[in-house]
Amino acid sequence: MADIIDIGTQRDAALARAVEILSAREPVAMPTETVYGLAADATNPDAIARIYEVKGRPRFNPLIAHVADLTMAERHARFDPLSRKLAEAFWPGPLTLVLPLTAESDIHDLCTAGLPTVGLRCPRGFASELIAAYGKPLAAPSANRSGRISPTSAAHVADDLGDRIQLVLDGGSAPVGVESTIVKIEDGEARLLRPGGLDAAEIEAVLGMTLIRADHGAAIEAPGMLASHYAPDVGVRLDVDCVKPGEILINFAGQDIAGRDMAVEELDLSPRGDLREAAANLFAMMKQADALAPAAIVFAPIPTDGLGEAINDRLSRAAAPKG
Ligand code: TXA
Ligand code: MG
Repeated sequence: MADIIDIGTQRDAALARAVEILSAREPVAMPTETVYGLAADATNPDAIARIYEVKGRPRFNPLIAHVADLTMAERHARFDPLSRKLAEAFWPGPLTLVLPLTAESDIHDLCTAGLPTVGLRCPRGFASELIAAYGKPLAAPSANRSGRISPTSAAHVADDLGDRIQLVLDGGSAPVGVESTIVKIEDGEARLLRPGGLDAAEIEAVLGMTLIRADHGAAIEAPGMLASHYAPDVGVRLDVDCVKPGEILINFAGQDIAGRDMAVEELDLSPRGDLREAAANLFAMMKQADALAPAAIVFAPIPTDGLGEAINDRLSRAAAPKG
């Protein structure tokens, strides 16, 4: 089983052990502010291949390369003025920028899936320290088996991958709770490739322009967006106005949904109706509900503004037929 090291009380030991494992081309689970990532050297094909092996991912999708700061980012990607403005405004933070690779970048093709671009993100907190200590970008998809719910705690990671990796760095609950927002600036336009933990409206305010949304299901360049993703084992229904016996209700702001007294259990993403709190609780509550093996997990309507966009995006994928 993987060792779990608490970064709060054993920061130096955690860093040293993680760097040692990364140097041996093995992945390490690390906390980020969005979700826990399964991190490996983004410049090394064997290390990246281990990510796919550990996750059991069926396909080679481009992975986000995590950097320690803007200086490291600029060695690997060319920043246009708008992307730079976003990096300066929101890094470190839950924003991924898709940018053209520089000629000198040694980020491996297995990380970019052979694209001429790379998704870069500078995470907040311990992850950036680890990247700085290691000295190279780290590829890091969420630290869960392929198709499972993204982990927001070290215990979630250990449950899912504990028998396949050596080390889980424990940084407590991920404060944002959903993956980063992915943006690509192209021909002076800004495209939202994935709604996520940074509110799209904040990005639009900094850019002074509207983000272009890709159609759901369209062949966007974010293949992590497989329709059935984040899927619990049982069925999921959304926007319900009625709960059937045997189901678990995941509510928002205490809405009075018909039949809620018949639910096996009722959880509330945010009793006070705060979408940030709801995002932070989303994956943990889905796991909690899934573990009770109900007839189905049903969700009350959740507003679509602010972080509600990312929450509804993840829910529509959770509810999609598994394929
Ligand atoms: O919050 C997050 O972003 C988490 C934490 C661990 O940092 N990471 C994460 O990474 O979600 P990953 O590798 O699972 O997400 C990759 C997403 C995929 O949908 C991928 O297609 C897109 O980013 N992506 C990566 N590189 C890209 C590129 N060059 N062009 C377009 N999309 C890209
Ligand atoms: Mg994932």
